[in-house]
Amino acid sequence: ERIPQVEALLEKMTLEEKIGQLNLLTPGGGVATGSVVSEDVEAKIKAGQVGGVFGVSSPERVRQAQEIAVKNSRLGIPLLIGSDVIHGYKTTFPTPLGLSSSWDMELIKETAKVAAKEATADGINWNFSPMVDISRDPRWGRVAEGAGEDAYLGSQIAIAMVEGYQQDDLTQPQTMMATVKHLALYGAPEGGRDYNRVDMSRTKMFNEYLPPYKAAVDAGVGSVMTSFNDIDGVPASGNKWLLTDLLRERWGFDGFVVSDYTSVNEMIAHGMGDLQDVSAMALKAGLDMDMVGEGFLTTLKKSVDEGRVSEEEITTAARRILEAKHKLGLLDDPYRYSDASRPEKDILTAGNRQLARLAATQSFVLLKDHNQVLPVSKKAKIALIGPLADDQTNMLGTWAPTGDFKLSVPVLEGFKNVAPKAKITYAKGANITNDTAYAKKVNVFGPKVEISNRSPEKLLQEALKVAKAADVIVAVVGEASEMSGEAASRTNIQIPESQKRLIRELVATGKPVALVLMSGRPLDISEEMEMPLSILQVWHPGVEAGNAIADVVFGDVNPSGKLTMSWPRNVGQIPVYYGERITGRPAASEEFEKFKSNYLDVVNSPLLPFGYGLSYTSFEYGKSKASSENLRANEEIIISTTVTNTGKKVGKEVVQLYIHDKVRSLTPPKKQLIAFKKIELKPGESMTVEFPVTVEDLKFYNGSLEYVYEPGEFDFFVAGSSNSDFDGTFTVVE
Ligand code: IFM
Repeated sequence: ERIPQVEALLEKMTLEEKIGQLNLLTPGGGVATGSVVSEDVEAKIKAGQVGGVFGVSSPERVRQAQEIAVKNSRLGIPLLIGSDVIHGYKTTFPTPLGLSSSWDMELIKETAKVAAKEATADGINWNFSPMVDISRDPRWGRVAEGAGEDAYLGSQIAIAMVEGYQQDDLTQPQTMMATVKHLALYGAPEGGRDYNRVDMSRTKMFNEYLPPYKAAVDAGVGSVMTSFNDIDGVPASGNKWLLTDLLRERWGFDGFVVSDYTSVNEMIAHGMGDLQDVSAMALKAGLDMDMVGEGFLTTLKKSVDEGRVSEEEITTAARRILEAKHKLGLLDDPYRYSDASRPEKDILTAGNRQLARLAATQSFVLLKDHNQVLPVSKKAKIALIGPLADDQTNMLGTWAPTGDFKLSVPVLEGFKNVAPKAKITYAKGANITNDTAYAKKVNVFGPKVEISNRSPEKLLQEALKVAKAADVIVAVVGEASEMSGEAASRTNIQIPESQKRLIRELVATGKPVALVLMSGRPLDISEEMEMPLSILQVWHPGVEAGNAIADVVFGDVNPSGKLTMSWPRNVGQIPVYYGERITGRPAASEEFEKFKSNYLDVVNSPLLPFGYGLSYTSFEYGKSKASSENLRANEEIIISTTVTNTGKKVGKEVVQLYIHDKVRSLTPPKKQLIAFKKIELKPGESMTVEFPVTVEDLKFYNGSLEYVYEPGEFDFFVAGSSNSDFDGTFTVVE
């Protein structure tokens, strides 16, 4: 349906002005999110050559930018004001992979809502989030920005985030337009190397990688960002099958598509032609807005003159940009997001920080609790050791360009806040890494990895002295925040050797040791899992890091997070994920068998499976049951089980339902998550958890890419992790 206000504008626009709407620029001045910044932005806005900008914030600066557009360009069309608000705006929440580990959709939605409130108070109306790229490769640094390996969970999180950012009325000044990114398959680069090529079958794509993007589209996301990689040999930004056949025709998307940073220009390097060729190709494929590269601005007119692109194609793209501005209410009030009284009221409020603290505690995953070292008594004599134990620069995690690390709470400070009676002594113990060349690469955006002037030996001896005098050692170790994220791929995903040595020496003291492990990605912690210590995985927890860690370490909050990506035993196992399709020669057990699909040197299972996470209490599951043996179309069966808290503390548990389609026209996944519920139980309390299941939950894309279910037997189980055995069966009958 056409919008009269937009159509009236289009009537008045010249071809050049329409092309101007397709141009997205960043004037620089903030944190660079790509390798070039735009020039002469003000002059271009005045000339009607800019549809939106990003990297500009505060009500005043945004008002100025809008004034330039509204008062100085011929038609006075306001600008989209974009930003990367990935895990919170100023109130930084845990990294998205961390947040996903909460399995708490209401909480995730709430963090997105708060992010939107803060960002819009600061002038932003368009967000480059959620990032929903499925990834099974922890070498890829951007796993930190996504929701892990599973398409179903990833889809639920995509919906929660779109709903949180946009709510149901984009004209409300507390909401912003969301962008689902990066269409498509950006999380599956060969070798885990960022920006690398991707190659995947259509059936794998449709069943395992595309669902979260589609879920965001179905939830009404306003825009879509393309990815840097190619698909079937055609870069995503110029891929007509992807942007038109799939996104618009099959999924019915009616918003606009923006490229990633200079990704149109990068099609030249991909081997698609010169700037005019790739710009024409991208527009014709269905790309509406060109981020930073200015290929659209500088070549599309020529392509129209030469008959390579039609004016109608440009009008269609311009219409989509103007419709987005209409949805945001900008065409009625360009200054809707320029209310100077809002930042003070809405940004970094005590309530927002409280939510950040809660969200962080919910994202932590207890990986191991040797001798119940955790929780630690608030009266204990504690040696708090490690390069991340009194650090402020690494608490926010990667992709927090709008946050301010100086506002974050270091772990030492959090410990003192939460356990004022504990006797805490601190020692750094080790550098994050001793490798200066490595540190330099990590430090492109600032000093996240500092190598001490004191020798590694001296650091270690100081720590051992402190450790020996304590009752318990808490060691805060892991990755600096920029060791994961964009262009931060690693082939060795262990804790850096400088810190591994510290851990070994601390364990050798014989004192109880708890590791608080920070990372953006799953790590290979095979060695540490064998050691007599406890491990609490805290990702990069955000602005309230220290307080949240203290809440869990001292037991005020019982950890309840569950992994959303499998943790490998070594890099050679990658990709290792729970939903793998069954081969013709599956290994029956962890025992090596010749002529079976297994390795000589490592078992097939991951070190830590998807869905795994412990608690300070324990849960027992009864046998799972189906309310009926048979399931027909238009009917529902209930799969249920009883969960009991058999420990001594109140605790939350993520109850997960997995199925397995026993006979299918395409090789089925070994296990498939189709539902989950997070519940809370008091000690001794039991609850029957019920999951309604219909044939809709059993559908998949068949060899003709039709979305179908197939009659036959399905196995199921309900458990606290993907690592469980099937204990029931039902049959889908026609
Ligand atoms: O939104 C990001 C994207 O995820 C990676 N390249 C830069 C964009 C804009 O900052």
